[in-house]
Amino acid sequence: MSELIPSSLPLRNDLVGEEPYGAPQLDVPVCLNVNENPYEPTLSVVDEITRDVRSIVPTLNRYPDREHIALREAFCKYLERESGVTLEVEQVWGANGSNEIMLQLFQAFGGPGRKALGAAPTYSMYPEYARDTFTGWATVQRNSDFSLDLEGLLTAMERERPSIVLLTSPNNPTGTILPMDQLEKVLQASQHIGVEGAGPHVHPVVVVDEAYIEFRNLGTPTALDLLGSYSNLAVSRTMSKAFAFAGARVGYVAADRGIIDCLRIVRMPYHLSAITQATALAAFKHTDEQLGQVNHLREVREETAEWLRLQTWHGKPLQVAASQSNFLLFGGSFEDRDRIFEELLKRGVLIRVVGPEGWMRVCMGKDEEMARFRKTLAEVLAKLEEE
Ligand SMILES: Cc1ncc(COP(=O)(O)O)c(C=O)c1O
Repeated sequence: MSELIPSSLPLRNDLVGEEPYGAPQLDVPVCLNVNENPYEPTLSVVDEITRDVRSIVPTLNRYPDREHIALREAFCKYLERESGVTLEVEQVWGANGSNEIMLQLFQAFGGPGRKALGAAPTYSMYPEYARDTFTGWATVQRNSDFSLDLEGLLTAMERERPSIVLLTSPNNPTGTILPMDQLEKVLQASQHIGVEGAGPHVHPVVVVDEAYIEFRNLGTPTALDLLGSYSNLAVSRTMSKAFAFAGARVGYVAADRGIIDCLRIVRMPYHLSAITQATALAAFKHTDEQLGQVNHLREVREETAEWLRLQTWHGKPLQVAASQSNFLLFGGSFEDRDRIFEELLKRGVLIRVVGPEGWMRVCMGKDEEMARFRKTLAEVLAKLEEE
């Protein structure tokens, strides 16, 4: 791709040689590579969205509500139902996917001379938000079971004095959850840590990316519970995953209104189109249906993890990270994971080569897709061991 960019173009020096981010979008029978919810909207959702979008089309000569108040009310209602947390409209904010939420957080709180701190391995877009906003990106390594090295993170916070501490729960690509007591320790530490490149009495914001949180085990708390206690906490959510709405591009964040007001400074005018707002509002009228398969996908995850642990590679059981998400990181000792990926792909199964060397990630699909994944993986591993 990048060799097609003429060298006469004044592309930013730090972008020369960079590739656009994204997993392959291939037309294959079993697509388990981008952590989507595999269940399409029901006919009643399709009809509701079509009707509601139809009704706003005659107003498309006008700009949309840039404060997207009706949608923010819907986010509040959803979060109350999903997590039992009551929020004011001023405490939530939407954007085109949580990707855009995160970019806005970096635009508002990052910038030249500032740093963001995360825990690797983690979502591979984070360094790109940092790059695009001229923010430094530092990481601490997770423990060998991919849990957070809390002591390491607290030490790095003291050393780096980041303006953003970015934690992911469940984390991508590991699926591991961030325990609430660890988050509280990070939040407490953030109250007395300064920020490089900012004035005195400035402290880091702590962002918890909860893109996959609806897939957590029943009874597991969410960072939303701590919003009332910490004004520097922002919790990012999305309709893309459990809510089965990735194509609509709607993400949102819950935080103290001070943080939301900072995001309002950097957002594009009218960033959420009238069509996006109408589409999301229509879908929220069918929340039960949209979330209808989440419990099932959680069960599929548990069954698949159990099955994977029974498979072997060179005589040893496969490792599977403890996931509370809709995907599993598995393997741990694949010396040539690209080869396994290719062999699966040849047989119509697309998963993802991501995370530390030796590991691969598979997202939970429909039952028939998972059956094909299991059959194909077993076949491929057996074939490669024979070679
Ligand atoms: C951890 C995490 N956060 C955020 C996102 C972005 O999701 P979206 O922009 O669709 O809301 C993803 C997408 O895969 C993700 O894995």
